[in-house]
Amino acid sequence: MTLREKAELAQRAAREAAQMLEHHGTLHIRTKAENDFVTECDLASETMIRDALLGACPEDVFYGEETGGDLKAQGVWIVDPIDGTVNFMRGQRLYTISIAYRLKGEMAVGVVYCPGTDEMFVGVRGEGATLNGRPIRVSDIADAKRAIVHIGFGHRNARHLAETEAVLFPLIRAISDLRRSGSAAYDVCSVAAGRAEAFIEQGLGIYDYAAGLVILEEAGGRMDGWHPGEDPVATGSLLAGNGVLNGTIQTLINP
Ligand code: IPD
Ligand code: CA
Ligand code: CA
Repeated sequence: MTLREKAELAQRAAREAAQMLEHHGTLHIRTKAENDFVTECDLASETMIRDALLGACPEDVFYGEETGGDLKAQGVWIVDPIDGTVNFMRGQRLYTISIAYRLKGEMAVGVVYCPGTDEMFVGVRGEGATLNGRPIRVSDIADAKRAIVHIGFGHRNARHLAETEAVLFPLIRAISDLRRSGSAAYDVCSVAAGRAEAFIEQGLGIYDYAAGLVILEEAGGRMDGWHPGEDPVATGSLLAGNGVLNGTIQTLINP
C-alpha cells in the first residue's frame, strides 16, 4: 500500500470514529490522574480505528494512547483516539482524532480530523499537506509582534507548569496574542495552516503530535524542542513553528 493509500485509509477510519463520537449517549468518565480523564468513547474510538487500520494492513503494528502497543516496529500506526478529551467531555467543539503512520523511524503520514469543524488535515511525506483537499502552507510572518502563539500548559507535571508559568507573561508582552485550544494536534495543524505562528507545550505524548508533525513539515514548518538542542520527539516538549519565527520564540521561552 502506498503512503497516499495509507492516508486515505486513515481518513476513512477517522471519519467513522467521528460518526460514533458525535452520536454518543451518556458519558462514563474515569479519572486517569489529576486532570487526566478517559471516557468509554476514547476506548471505543481507539478500538474502531485499530480494527480499521489493521484490518486493511495486517502487516502493520498499532500504538494507541489508551491501549499501547509496540512503538519500535517498522511500520506503526500512532493514534490518539480523542485529542482534547476535556473539550469533548464538556461539549466544546475543538477535539480531534489524530492518526500517524511511521515507517522505519520516520513519520510518513499524518491525518488530523476535527469533527466539530469538519476539518480534515492530511500530510503525506514528500507530497505536501492539505486541509479538506486544498494545499496549506505556514505563514511567513517573521515579526514576533505579529505572531499568534498557541500554548499548552503542561499542567499535569509540576516542573513543566512552573517553567511555562515563568515565561507566560514575558511571552504575551512580546507577541500579538496567545491561544489555548485544548487539542495539541489541532494546535500543530493551526500553525501548518498559517493561522498561528507557533505552538508550545511541554511533556506531550507521541500520539499528541505525531500526525501533526508530518502535516506541519509538509506545510513548510518545523518542529524544534522547547529547549535549544532538545529533540522534541524524544522529550515531548516542543515548539512547532512556521520556521522563520522558531528561533525568536525559542529565545523568548528560554530566558
Ligand atoms: C491533551 C490535549 C491538550 C494538551 C494535553 C494533552 P488528551 O490530550 O492535547 O491540548 O494540553 O497535554 O494531554 O488527553 O485530550 O488526549
Ligand atoms: Ca492527546
Ligand atoms: Ca487522547
